[in-house]
Amino acid sequence: MDDGTRLTRQEERLLRDVRVPEQMFLVPPAPLWPKDSHTWRAKALAQVEPPDLADCAPQGTKVTSHDKRLLWHGHMHTVTTPAIAKALLVVAEQIRSNRQREHGRIGIILDGPKGTGKSTLLQAVGVHWERRFAQLYEPDDNRIPIITLNVPPPTRGNLRNWPGAFARYLGQEREGGDPTESVIRAMRNARTLLVLIDGIERLRTAADAELTFQYLDMISEETGATFIYCGRYAQNIVDPLTRDNDTRLEQDEVLHGDHTVLRLSRIGFDDEGVEKFQRVVTLFDKDLRLYRHQPGDLADLAPYLHTRSRGYMRMLSHLICQAAQRAILTKEERITRELLEKIPLGGVVEL
Ligand SMILES: Nc1ncnc2c1ncn2[C@@H]1O[C@H](COP(=O)(O)OP(=O)(O)OP(=O)(O)O)[C@@H](O)[C@H]1O
Ligand SMILES: [Mg+2]
Repeated sequence: MDDGTRLTRQEERLLRDVRVPEQMFLVPPAPLWPKDSHTWRAKALAQVEPPDLADCAPQGTKVTSHDKRLLWHGHMHTVTTPAIAKALLVVAEQIRSNRQREHGRIGIILDGPKGTGKSTLLQAVGVHWERRFAQLYEPDDNRIPIITLNVPPPTRGNLRNWPGAFARYLGQEREGGDPTESVIRAMRNARTLLVLIDGIERLRTAADAELTFQYLDMISEETGATFIYCGRYAQNIVDPLTRDNDTRLEQDEVLHGDHTVLRLSRIGFDDEGVEKFQRVVTLFDKDLRLYRHQPGDLADLAPYLHTRSRGYMRMLSHLICQAAQRAILTKEERITRELLEKIPLGGVVEL
């Protein structure tokens, strides 16, 4: 008997047909720039995991430009390469011998050619310590263990506004006046442990580098932070500023500073390099989220990827990411040598 509460077939169909609207995004995908301590912390503490296939658009369905897997493969995880693991240990030792000293802390220089993963390594060191602090101590918004800055662009008179760069990161930007004193106070109170400076290659002239280091040395002396200077030619630029240039050298003695230099290079083709590269590709392999991917598929392509990327992390990362995105869009859903050969990276596309 119809008591008037039952839905007609047409009404049922109408209800079923109400489509779930596509998710609206406020902004197009972009990096989260660590412009101040809050964004850095949010970025460092975010547990970005590869998406679970069960939560993604099912195999064979239309892929939108905001598809979870497409976005994930746009820039995958930082994988802990042997270089990153080693650097973390060196930095930890330096921090341990620096952190209780009032004076005379020693910094670290991170040098290496383009595209070898220096900035990524620097960031990985920062993330490690930010997370370590979050595990060890009570949450405290006033604590700023890591400061991460790029060498600021030159302003009037070719000077670089270092006080402004620190103040902006610490959220102390004010109109006029030199914020240095409040920067030092804030860094002491915030227990800043590490200052990561990237883009050292921008300091092109000796005068530019000297002016910069006058300022950074002063901040280092006045606070408890260990400095890491990162960039191409960083050793040549920073080391002369950390030396004793006054004492006469013994015969055959070579002048050098006391900062530890971490040197990153492309992964070479000797036996050790080949083994290292294989390990790195295996790490990427684990992070792929393709429907037809079998664990080890990518690792099997390591020799090809090594030749193709010539051992540079930047090239390797782009090759894998582009191949994965192509595999999703073409519905191939796995990375093969043929697919990699179609990626034009590093080659010429005749038009
Ligand atoms: N360990 C890693 N895991 C994943 N991706 C990496 C890793 N290292 C580097 N990459 C990727 O390679 C690219 C280049 O790395 P990065 O910018 O760190 O190189 P760099 O040595 O700082 O280069 P430059 O000298 O041009 O500043 C980045 O897009 C980064 O995501
Ligand atoms: Mg860099």
